[in-house]
Amino acid sequence: MEKTLLIIKPDGVQRGLVGEILGRIEKKGFKISAMKLEKISKEKAGIHYAEHAGKGFYSELLEFITSSPSVLAVIEGKNVIDGVRKMAGKTNPLESDLGTIRGDFAVAVSHNVVHTSDGPESSKREIENFFSNEEIQTHILCTEEWTC
Ligand code: TYD
Ligand code: MG
Repeated sequence: MEKTLLIIKPDGVQRGLVGEILGRIEKKGFKISAMKLEKISKEKAGIHYAEHAGKGFYSELLEFITSSPSVLAVIEGKNVIDGVRKMAGKTNPLESDLGTIRGDFAVAVSHNVVHTSDGPESSKREIENFFSNEEIQTHILCTEEWTC
């Protein structure tokens, strides 16, 4: 089953949005296959955001994502990569539709509450950066295509 990495960033955790965000993901029909609260290290943040190295917002982004704990989760389900990205909304919350996580809960691109993988390669790379295979559980109810 397809998997994606969801990060509830330090702003989302500090603002008490963890339950709200995970509730939306679960109600949609996606499954949590791994989850932990972690203050992301500079090293892991650098790997995670390597594609943005050198950009104007890069150092601020690394400062922010390592500033206090994030919730890291592997989310599983049918078309979950595009599905969770759609639920997150556009990167800049001023452009995100209402009804999306960023559209409903954020006003600044630098503090946009969640990260979600943008494709199969980045999903694999990002999950491996934060989780070992042993940390990722299998759901016995994921037998029918429409349930997960
Ligand atoms: P990006 O990968 O473009 O967005 P997304 O999180 O939707 O995949 O950028 C990574 C993060 O960098 C983004 O979530 C917030 C931050 N960022 C800024 O602070 N300023 C910017 O202008 C951009 C494009 C991103
Ligand atoms: Mg991205």
